[in-house]
Amino acid sequence: MARIFSGIQPSGELHIGNYLGAVKNWVALQSQFESFFCVVDYHAITVAYTPEDLRRRTREMATSLLAAGLDPAQCAVFVQSRVPEHTELQWIFNTITPLGELERQVQFKDKAARQEQVMAGLLNYPVLQAADILLYLADAVPVGEDQVQHLELSRVVARNWNARFAPEGAPYFPEPQAKLTPTRRIAGLDGNAKMSKSLNNTIGLLETPDEIWAKLRPAVTDPARIKKTDAGNPDNCRVIFQLHRAFSSPEMVAEVETKCRSAAWGCVDCKKALHESMNAELTPIRTRAQALADQPSLVDAALEAGAEKARAVAAQTMRHVKESMGLA
Ligand code: TRP
Repeated sequence: MARIFSGIQPSGELHIGNYLGAVKNWVALQSQFESFFCVVDYHAITVAYTPEDLRRRTREMATSLLAAGLDPAQCAVFVQSRVPEHTELQWIFNTITPLGELERQVQFKDKAARQEQVMAGLLNYPVLQAADILLYLADAVPVGEDQVQHLELSRVVARNWNARFAPEGAPYFPEPQAKLTPTRRIAGLDGNAKMSKSLNNTIGLLETPDEIWAKLRPAVTDPARIKKTDAGNPDNCRVIFQLHRAFSSPEMVAEVETKCRSAAWGCVDCKKALHESMNAELTPIRTRAQALADQPSLVDAALEAGAEKARAVAAQTMRHVKESMGLA
């Protein structure tokens, strides 16, 4: 079975932006691939943080992933720092990654511009990401478009290592391909291009139906549609129509489209229908989250089992890598 790997920052509880942008896809893929999903706490420490906060956010993210439907019986869910081979392989990869490749990474340039002092770890962030992926010899990496450049770098690393240490014609590391998430980036409820917790324009995955409705009701729609009798254009309704596409059945999406254009439905009707679709998908997630909150040992057990599966593969890769490099 082909193998996939993906990582997510420990940003705390999932919101519907990162759920739709990544995790929902992972849940769908876990039965088709041998899957490794990792909460990347080592990546998170490349920017300012406090230890207590990181511990909490890591735990919340892991719990959200399980609640969202990642099933420890089908895939490995684990925390990066519990598998020491990630950093071990990263050091090795640092020695075969051209500095220029790192300096031209867009995400590095953006993040560096916002720091007073830029640490080496921020520059080397994508090398750790390459180690994450290649440690499991993953063929594909389900990610959003923002990670395409990092994936390219992972392929450069794989190629460089193979060229230097694998026999001619028998590459050891596969060149991992990005497997782009079907859902395009979802705009914030306020119409801002980015849905993000810090902008307070998102919906938490575990919010109650009432809380969700309180956020949907005032969310932006087609700005040209002022009166309920005005015909609407779903293409200009960036938030609500996009969310329908993500949460509603194709039949409902078609109905919304017709009723918006003909003004048979006002925006509130459309939002009510969306609210129903969201409840249908999110209620089981909330129920699972509640079960995990009542029994935190379930989360510990899932993460330990995930780390164990990960370590078994990681140890094998490291053995091969070290032998090939004269390190064992
Ligand atoms: N850089 C990714 C992000 O910010 C997180 C990540 C770390 C990752 N390691 C990874 C994603 C490996 C895919 C594969 O979203």
